[in-house]
Amino acid sequence: MRTLKNILVTGGAGFIGSNFIHYLFEKDSNFNYRIINIDALNYAGNLMNLNDVEEKWGGKRYFFVKGDICDAVLVHDLFNKYDIDTVVHFAAESHVDRSILGPGDFIKTNVMGTYTLLDAARNYWKISDSSMETGVLFHHISTDEVYGSLGETGYFTETTPYDPRSPYSATKAASDHLVMAYNHTYRLPVTISNCSNNYGPYQFPEKLIPLMILNILEGKPLPVYGDGKNIRDWIYVEDHCRAIVDILIRGERGCKYNIGGENEWENINLLYLLIDITAKKAGIDPVAVKNTITYVCDRPGHDRRYAIDSSQIKKELGWKPLVDFQTGLEKTVEWYLCNLDWINSIRNGEYRKWIAKNYTERETVI
Ligand code: NAD
Ligand code: DAU
Repeated sequence: MRTLKNILVTGGAGFIGSNFIHYLFEKDSNFNYRIINIDALNYAGNLMNLNDVEEKWGGKRYFFVKGDICDAVLVHDLFNKYDIDTVVHFAAESHVDRSILGPGDFIKTNVMGTYTLLDAARNYWKISDSSMETGVLFHHISTDEVYGSLGETGYFTETTPYDPRSPYSATKAASDHLVMAYNHTYRLPVTISNCSNNYGPYQFPEKLIPLMILNILEGKPLPVYGDGKNIRDWIYVEDHCRAIVDILIRGERGCKYNIGGENEWENINLLYLLIDITAKKAGIDPVAVKNTITYVCDRPGHDRRYAIDSSQIKKELGWKPLVDFQTGLEKTVEWYLCNLDWINSIRNGEYRKWIAKNYTERETVI
């Protein structure tokens, strides 16, 4: 069992990162440590996700720094200033379609950014052969997409060979390899988790579920790529966050853990379910909404099926997904219905203006 003290969370203003910070402050009964959140606040990073945390814990147990994980001096300063013992590395460019349009930012943040953090950790922690037994840990958040695409049967296990097929997944695979290389070469204590598709509150509305919820509410066409039969394994974000905490506390150094929802859905069937839930809650006619489903050109290189075998984390750490899909989707739809201000402020540019006014490009931490 590890004791956590000062956790550097990267990308904590994004979808999963902000859910993770909420989870630690609100649901982790052992929580008595500090969180330092570095986020560059790109289009998907949103400080509104953490307003309540900032209000309650800001300057005491929670510290936000606007900054780029590729900035080696800044990252080094953060390790020093806050005496970081744990890194939970979420920061990434995360959307496959954007990576197809322009891979450059993905290579910079996902590969160079991960390298910068690994090197800062290695230097600050002065790793030696015995360090594997000490209290420090670098946990890297990765994805099931590094394993490639499955046919109709089979599952990704921790030993499935890597076969990334989009610029996004290729950069995540590269970062996984760097993390393991730092473990093997420099004995840096690391863990990696490879998770399936997350859904829940605070997800940027470019990803399938929030995009469809908003289009349903606004009567817009519902764009389904290809034949709509691609399969994803969906997990409620809080189940993912709980798995990460289990790994931080009890995970074995040098190991990777697959995390999945045991919940495979063809996109088109997921969409039918989402329409029924959203239409019911919003008082809209589901039949009319189904008529707005529009089959569009497929995503280039679209992976057919992802499915995770989570038996290792279940066996070793006693974790399992707890939120069933109907319940998780209902909570998610309700969250979007109750937070239309959040959507509007992203869309009308007010939030960006506020960031530009209140945050300089690079925070000085010392
Ligand atoms: P997201 O895009 O919502 O959030 C990413 C965050 O990283 C944003 O706040 C962004 O501002 C920040 N960021 C980007 N570049 C940065 C940089 N150079 N320096 C500092 N901060 C930067 O993504 P997400 O969906 O929350 O994903 C988080 C992590 O989880 C990613 O590593 C992703 O690969 C992984 N993951 C996501 C899913 C999923 O379904 N969303 C599933 C498995 C793994
Ligand atoms: O598997 C984990 C990955 O899940 C994460 O690593 C990524 O960061 C995350 O973005 C997600 O990738 P996907 O490409 O699976 O998610 P996305 O929400 O973009 O798409 C889900 C499926 O829905 C996919 O088969 C493409 C399809 N799709 C997506 C959009 C946005 C559509 O049919 N129409 C759409 O408009």
